[in-house]
Amino acid sequence: MAKPLKVGIAGLGTVGAATIRILVGAHNELSARAGRSIEIVAVSARSKGKDRGVDLGAYRWYDDAAEMARDPGVELLVEVMGGSEGMAKAAIEAALALGKPVVTANKALLAAHGPALAALAERNNTTIAFEAAVAGGIPVIKALREALVGNKVTRVSGIMNGTCNYILSRMEAEGLDFAQCLKAAQELGYAEADPTFDVEGFDTAHKLALLTALAFGTEVDSDAVYVEGISGVTPLDLEMAEELGFRIKLLGVAERTAAGIEQRVHPTFVSRQSQLANVMGVTNAVAIEAEPVGTITLVGPGAGGGATASAVVGDIVDLARGNAVTTFGRPSQVLEKPIRAPMQRHEGGYYIRLQVLDRPGAAAIIASRMAERGISLESILQKGREARRNANGSVPVILITYATTELLIRNAVAAIAEDGVLDGTPQVIRIER
Ligand SMILES: NC(=O)c1ccc[n+]([C@@H]2O[C@H](COP(=O)([O-])OP(=O)(O)OC[C@H]3O[C@@H](n4cnc5c(N)ncnc54)[C@H](OP(=O)(O)O)[C@@H]3O)[C@@H](O)[C@H]2O)c1
Repeated sequence: MAKPLKVGIAGLGTVGAATIRILVGAHNELSARAGRSIEIVAVSARSKGKDRGVDLGAYRWYDDAAEMARDPGVELLVEVMGGSEGMAKAAIEAALALGKPVVTANKALLAAHGPALAALAERNNTTIAFEAAVAGGIPVIKALREALVGNKVTRVSGIMNGTCNYILSRMEAEGLDFAQCLKAAQELGYAEADPTFDVEGFDTAHKLALLTALAFGTEVDSDAVYVEGISGVTPLDLEMAEELGFRIKLLGVAERTAAGIEQRVHPTFVSRQSQLANVMGVTNAVAIEAEPVGTITLVGPGAGGGATASAVVGDIVDLARGNAVTTFGRPSQVLEKPIRAPMQRHEGGYYIRLQVLDRPGAAAIIASRMAERGISLESILQKGREARRNANGSVPVILITYATTELLIRNAVAAIAEDGVLDGTPQVIRIER
């Protein structure tokens, strides 16, 4: 057998402790699979005294993870601390500068610094493996970076935030509002005390930016992701979606269009017939459309200690075997500068919910504002008109459009608002057919 691989683990929380459990518990099996023993030699976290449910007695302790990365006895750094700056970044840079490979679950850091860190890795003949950073236990990085290299990827879309999918699933099943379901998610440990990062779509945006780079051979361009979260989705929207044959999902979508690469995260009407529509609760799913393979949909647990550690250990064993792949699947110098497709040019169908004041001619105004811009309406619904009339006397009107552009929809909705027939803010949700 080859000489053992000596590993240092920075971060001993949910993912770090679960990773230790697998590496220790399945040591012999993993050694057989890797062809060499994988040994934890050092660990780092903030508080040394904390009980983490794993025995750390045999490992060197470091308060400073960057110092641990520089320990000559550490050959591979596992970074599972989190944070896009600070200690996680310092530790990764320290390891890479010394030519040591890094395994990380840190999407926030890679979304912000991926290109620079990948270049640093290459200059030092090493790499960063990050399977755990996107969709937890689902091996989507490996699929894009390795298994599908013979394909031209045209589109990647998915449900990449379990918190949002749980909230939307529950809102739909029980007719509850966003705040009630968020509270339930927090009580179950699915949502953080400050849920902004998840529910406003930023977490999905980070993951999407990483998948986009792998799918299209472009530099990570997180700033280009259009982001809208789920906090504005109402029970009425979910009810209407159901009636029209859809479900609402927070999707991340990356695709090549004539205008460039589109990266967007937003609540989306997806056909109930589609695989993504049937992914419920905290489960994640990613659909990859590629030529010549066709569409591949990967479904599984997107978070949690065990699932995420499964991905971390997969990367460690890969590196132990000597399977080092360039961080973003090709050398940094040949990653293209992405041409950003402006969101205004996005083409698709739209669901529009307007709260309309009961004034003569209101319906005609709405129809003409749409028609002036060449927007064709597939349907107009005014379901339960009287029952839904609010204190101001306004009623919800639902419009479903055929394919048009974001710019035209935004202009039409703004024009309708200026006509003074609306009560409250219009809801606009994109439809994926
Ligand atoms: N949890 C999931 O389901 C999941 C899924 C996919 C990806 N991830 C990613 O995995 C990473 C870790 O997540 P987690 O859920 O395991 O987090 P966590 O439970 O909060 O654990 C974080 C660990 O990092 C340590 N740490 C934080 N800042 C530190 C610092 N400045 N110096 C030293 N140690 C520091 C903490 O030390 P103390 O314990 O001493 O405070 C703790 O052990 C994040 O990047 C996250 O985005 C998590």
